[in-house]
Amino acid sequence: MSREPAFRPRVPRLIVVGSGIAGLYASLLAVDSGASVVLLTKGELNESNTWYAQGGISAVLDRPAPGDTIAAHVQDTLQAGAGHCDAAAVQVLCTEARHDIAGLQRFGAHFDIAGDGGPALGLEAAHSAPRILHAGGDATGARIAAALIRSVLARQADGKITLLSGAQATALRLSSGRVDGVEYLRDGRQHTLMGDALLLATGGAGQVFAQTTNPAVATADGLALAVRAGAAVADLEFFQFHPTCLAQEGRVQEGGVQEGWAEEAGATRDTNNGLNGEPLLISEAVRGEGAVLVDAGGRRFMTAYHRDAELAPRDVVSRSIALHLAKLGDPNGHVYLDARVIEQAKGPGFLARRFPTLTRRILDAGFDWTRDLVPVAPAAHYWMGGVVTDLLGRTTVPGLYAAGEVACTGVQGANRLASNSLLEGLVFGRRAVESFLFGGSDWGAPGGAPPRTPHDPPNLASSADEGLAPSELFPSNTAAEPGVSAGSTAASSDGGKEVFSREALRRLMTAKAGVLRSGKLLTEAAETLDRWTAVVHPDAVPAGNADPVGHEDRNLLLAARLLVAAALDRTESLGAHYRSDEPEEAYALRPKASLVRD
Ligand code: FAD
Ligand code: SIN
Repeated sequence: MSREPAFRPRVPRLIVVGSGIAGLYASLLAVDSGASVVLLTKGELNESNTWYAQGGISAVLDRPAPGDTIAAHVQDTLQAGAGHCDAAAVQVLCTEARHDIAGLQRFGAHFDIAGDGGPALGLEAAHSAPRILHAGGDATGARIAAALIRSVLARQADGKITLLSGAQATALRLSSGRVDGVEYLRDGRQHTLMGDALLLATGGAGQVFAQTTNPAVATADGLALAVRAGAAVADLEFFQFHPTCLAQEGRVQEGGVQEGWAEEAGATRDTNNGLNGEPLLISEAVRGEGAVLVDAGGRRFMTAYHRDAELAPRDVVSRSIALHLAKLGDPNGHVYLDARVIEQAKGPGFLARRFPTLTRRILDAGFDWTRDLVPVAPAAHYWMGGVVTDLLGRTTVPGLYAAGEVACTGVQGANRLASNSLLEGLVFGRRAVESFLFGGSDWGAPGGAPPRTPHDPPNLASSADEGLAPSELFPSNTAAEPGVSAGSTAASSDGGKEVFSREALRRLMTAKAGVLRSGKLLTEAAETLDRWTAVVHPDAVPAGNADPVGHEDRNLLLAARLLVAAALDRTESLGAHYRSDEPEEAYALRPKASLVRD
């Protein structure tokens, strides 16, 4: 064990884990309020989901679009969340948005300006008015993160904050039931850091699935750490799939395929949507500007699935794509985004001006979207569920706060409204810091009384054989079982008793717990996950394990198991959780957003 980095003496000591929007912003606020902060992050400071955010941040400010109000933002959030949001948390989110947008600006973030000198406001799906602030056109996340990182580095230079990059948190330390520190790996060695409280801001878990918009760091670490420390989690069945991730045709197929739908459609499973290599999300803001979705026959199909067509809530659009492809007999194929109509309506050069990064990256992938249709398919994007917190960021474990994507505040319900995630990280990251420094009484006694109905800390024990040798824990790192190669695309069957590997897990989850689910598929997934659990024991952290990838693999397995268990428990369809055996949630019942356009 190494010496821990020095906190400043006699001031509240906060450990922040994660350098996305939630961790960076919370760290800055805590430092500027006089706390001593150590910020740990497992990669470089800019390695985060935040960095890749495109569309922007939703907020109703002083000069909203005509007719837009905070009440409308609240209503849109509740409606997109399929009636599963925590109304009080949504009210806080939408009301306090302006406060934290101003906070961001104080730390040097700037948003794009419209012709009238006010903020340029984008429109995204399921918003009833344009209210999305963006920066650098479609580079919102990178611009915001860069500004926050500059501010953090300035405070580091002044000796006000300690930054530890390349520091991977592996376990929370508990003393008398209270979190008072963290264990982490850095430079191949294990370290311990003690503090008065810890804020988890470790982001999401897209790497649980074979096809994702998320970068490599999104491996569910925070959720796993919190669960092992006894924290309550909730809403884990709700994983959002973004409808428009670039599908690169003709590339080597590595990922999983959605199972159970090919047979129904009479098709063979020989593709996986072409979602491989570096993921490229194509922002919903593009559909907000007027792009439409068409199938391989050139038919615009979303109008047949929802009254709001391409601007229906995100879960609806992803599911409609999957159902439409299944109907066409090509369940693992892709559809096309037609952005040419935007250029026709708004004039040549509009796409390049409004979406400069996307224009370049789509060109790099071989498409000129001013002339070509762009192939797209859904990919795992955002986890609505997470570590249960109250309105002050407190988890059910004293001393442990959570904010951002890792947390479940209840604002995202069963399906997050576009561009509400960056905002959640800001508002509840700040509230967590305020609670840590100044206390708070929104929800009962310190450390407890979450407003959500949490799942109890899950019982992770497995009934299967526990007596396997350590060398068998990650066999795919060495050699796979005969007939099952580590990179196999054979996700559809576990008849060969595939051994655990991250790739196998990701294929399994895409095949059996993806956009379209059923009791049968989920049960098969659970059986495989149980078998792997009995070998890998993801519910515990082996003492002295200094293998960073092994820690992530365990976290992914634990997260997948919890997700599938929650999905099995919820037998009805709701929001992003769609079960073909209970399809009756009927999103058509969700009333149409009345669109206010400027
Ligand atoms: P992250 O930004 O993911 O940061 C998590 C941090 O924790 C990272 O620094 C990571 O390295 C670190 N970490 C993880 N595990 C450990 C560990 N064990 N030890 C130490 N550090 C660890 N949302 C919007 O609102 N608007 C958008 O326009 C938008 N666009 C998106 C586009 C893309 C391509 C993606 C992937 C997401 C998008 N989202 C968007 C979602 C949004 O970006 C994320 O939900 C949000 O940024 C999460 O912020 P965060 O601070 O919680 O986590
Ligand atoms: C996008 O730009 O489509 C992503 C927005 C989000 O995830 O909120």
